[in-house]
Amino acid sequence: NAEVLQNELKENIRLRKEKENLHNYLQTIVESLPDKIFEISPEGIISFVNRETIGKGGTGLRAIKGKHFTEFVAPEHKEFVLKKWEDAKKGIFRPYELQVTARDGTRRDLLITPRPVKGTNRYLLVQRDITELKELESKYCESKHLTALGQLSAGIAHEIRNPLSSIKMSLKILQKRLNPKGNDLKRFEIAQREVEHLEGLVNDVLVFAKPSEPKKKPSNIINILEQALSMVEQPLLDKGIKVEKIFDKGIGSVDVDPMMLGRAFINIFQNSIDAMDQGGVLTITVRRSSDDEVSYVVIEVKDNGCGIAESDLQYLFNPFFTRKRYGTGLGLSQVQRIIDQHKGKIEILSEEGKGTRFIVRLPLGNAEGIKATAT
Ligand SMILES: Nc1ncnc2c1ncn2[C@@H]1O[C@H](COP(=O)(O)OP(=O)(O)OP(=O)(O)O)[C@@H](O)[C@H]1O
Ligand SMILES: [Mg+2]
Repeated sequence: NAEVLQNELKENIRLRKEKENLHNYLQTIVESLPDKIFEISPEGIISFVNRETIGKGGTGLRAIKGKHFTEFVAPEHKEFVLKKWEDAKKGIFRPYELQVTARDGTRRDLLITPRPVKGTNRYLLVQRDITELKELESKYCESKHLTALGQLSAGIAHEIRNPLSSIKMSLKILQKRLNPKGNDLKRFEIAQREVEHLEGLVNDVLVFAKPSEPKKKPSNIINILEQALSMVEQPLLDKGIKVEKIFDKGIGSVDVDPMMLGRAFINIFQNSIDAMDQGGVLTITVRRSSDDEVSYVVIEVKDNGCGIAESDLQYLFNPFFTRKRYGTGLGLSQVQRIIDQHKGKIEILSEEGKGTRFIVRLPLGNAEGIKATAT
């Protein structure tokens, strides 16, 4: 009989050990999940959380267990989350998204999925961090959107181009034949100017839709800037704008497409000129800078014009975004593309009513390229 008892005891110990193992096994799986899982009583009290969220102040598992889950919801989200909680209690378990501020101050997107715990009256809240996913999604949408916009506008521009050149030709021939004078001549000239304006627009759109590859060669950045400045000489004179140049002459050469880069700076200059009135000062600075391992040439274009509203800043580089009556809004999207093609960076600092600074950083070519043309 004692033997039977002993066997039973052994069996009991074995079973208990097995149960413990199984418990540990399941526990490691739950702990290893990327999602955070909370188990909540019907009253909203947290009874289990899969990963200890140990904060700096030592808030651990014990600080979370036994508390009402809304204690961990930011005040601005409380009403919304409580509404979802009520839904869950009615048997509606739809996932929902929540944007929160993490401890380090970053914004995180969370996906919360409520579930009933089978065979009990308790609930699970599964919390997944979907910040990266959301970013990818929005980038993807944006690029798809831009491609479609480019194709559409290129199609239209292409259709307009040919009729435009025949209008231009006809105008020229007619003017020669009729030899108009006075007001009639003025009308001819207006028509011609408008046709040229349209041609420019159509070309901009085509360049935007089908960008060409830069033909890079060692170039002198200061020459490029001077060249670009000479292209806006007339409007600078018209508005009496002063130009200040602060050029570090020791920059050497940069591996870029001089024509393309020139076009980018003409656009930036033109924008600054548009933003300024009499008394305007355009300051152009060229200097060298380096971070970690990369050296840059930094070109800063500063104006004391009208500045840019903070709410506009996010749209500046969008094609067709313009605040000007006759603007096409393609200038800065072209600039950004050109700087991207040169692996550079562009940054805008602006204050409404005070002025704007465009800061362009271009990586300097290899040392050989610099030496070869430094003279
Ligand atoms: N230096 C600046 N100062 C104030 N606003 C600016 C400046 N640069 C750009 N902007 C604002 O950004 C908008 C977009 O500029 P962008 O060059 O892309 O188009 P645009 O100048 O309006 O037209 P486009 O260049 O195609 O003729 C402008 O309409 C203007 O509101
Ligand atoms: Mg412009």
